[in-house]
Amino acid sequence: MTTTTPARTTTSRMAALVRDIRKAVDRGLAPDITAYLVGELLAPHLGAEDLLTPEQQEGDPEHYRQHVLHAEPDGGFSVVALVWLPGQETCIHDHVSWCVAGVHQGEESERRYRLAPGTGGAARLVPTEDVVNGPGEVCGFAPPGDIHRVRNSCTDKAISIHVYGADISRLGTSIRRVYTLPTD
Ligand SMILES: [Fe+2]
Repeated sequence: MTTTTPARTTTSRMAALVRDIRKAVDRGLAPDITAYLVGELLAPHLGAEDLLTPEQQEGDPEHYRQHVLHAEPDGGFSVVALVWLPGQETCIHDHVSWCVAGVHQGEESERRYRLAPGTGGAARLVPTEDVVNGPGEVCGFAPPGDIHRVRNSCTDKAISIHVYGADISRLGTSIRRVYTLPTD
């Protein structure tokens, strides 16, 4: 579960980043290449004090919180800030589109999975990688093969900026599917 705050005001730094992302997305390249280019654009802004408004850095004691920072009118991409209080985490999920995630503050722990055959023809999830992403680190991916779970395993608030190749303000979430399969 998460809560979502719709886009309202944004900072001039975020507005400049959105303009640059638009130019990259409008090239119409393959999803994984677009994600790579957007990641390169996002990285220099991470950690900048004027990237987010104070409201966009507020968490929710119940769930990690999603602030929509921008949604492109044609649905081509959207930008959100995810705010994680200590211990908050996602379910195991994959995504509706390509995605770029950059850590703005704190640390995020990510476990990646792949689907594998289980007993009796059922599927199961096999962990493939544990990654800790620190301030300024960026990762990008495109479906398929993008199953993961993200957690703030630190004692301080974590904030990450995510860019998706879809309109998250309309969909409400970037999650395509939630996995409740057994894991190894
Ligand atoms: Fe995700």
